[in-house]
Amino acid sequence: MTGAAKLLRWYDRYGRDLPWRETRDPYRILVSEIMLQQTQVDRVKDFYKRWLKQFPTWKKLSLATNAQVIHAWAGLGYNRRALVLRDIARAVVADGVPTTESEWLALKGIGPYTAAAISAFAQKKRTLPIDTNIRRVLGRLLLGKTFPTIDDDPQIRHAAESFLPQRGHHEDVPQAIFDLATSICTKNPDCASCPLRDHCKAAKLFLAGRVKIPKRSVKVGNEHHHRNKPFPDRIYRGRILKLVREWGQVRLPTIGPLVDPNFDRKLDQQWINKMVERMIKDGLLCRKKDLVTLPTR
Ligand code: ADE
Repeated sequence: MTGAAKLLRWYDRYGRDLPWRETRDPYRILVSEIMLQQTQVDRVKDFYKRWLKQFPTWKKLSLATNAQVIHAWAGLGYNRRALVLRDIARAVVADGVPTTESEWLALKGIGPYTAAAISAFAQKKRTLPIDTNIRRVLGRLLLGKTFPTIDDDPQIRHAAESFLPQRGHHEDVPQAIFDLATSICTKNPDCASCPLRDHCKAAKLFLAGRVKIPKRSVKVGNEHHHRNKPFPDRIYRGRILKLVREWGQVRLPTIGPLVDPNFDRKLDQQWINKMVERMIKDGLLCRKKDLVTLPTR
């Protein structure tokens, strides 16, 4: 039996029932992929269903204002994603639904991973979306790299050519890998339970206990922290948006102490102002003199 066949058999038995696996609608697939970009599957599930009730189609979403999508996105974080999604809906309503991976890629806000994901999951194209999960599993399985990096992607893509089934459900392979990546092929993998153990070029190293597991992935660390603040700016921007969402309008000088218990007017007001200005530029907020609101567009 081929590796892919074993993987798909395992997926049949142990794969998760996720709401976006019940559809081939490119809109619904895109919504799921954008939500999943920086948010865990379990958190996304409910938001996904709620979002689709409110915005079931490209058309419905295209008509939403910034304020409407910001409210609907509340709680998911990385709020710019909501506007990106709405802007994509506007482009699709204006120009039609893309039919090729490169047409998806041409839309602002869609990168190589997402373009490949929609092409594979919605349009059954034989293409491989590579995110950190797919990279880890296939880098180990096909290349024998215990902790593959983005530099390994071309080689992974090449090796995956002969791993993806020629016929049948090749689009289920990445879905199965997502599940394998979160249950078995985790940072410190459980190779003994893996259906691909006998096919995997890294399993022997892990099973022999010869692999040192890094304490912390390299990611993180590229986020900006203001002086001694305990959280990155992203967290404070989230708090600012929550405040404005819930109160409707907030005066700029009152924001600092409401989002940061250690706010210091002298040392921190500039920082708050800059974050608000950036959020205005991103379309998340609006300001008239010192009154901050959601945008009405
Ligand atoms: N991560 C990114 N896309 C995913 C999907 N469709 N299912 C589960 N996890 C994912």
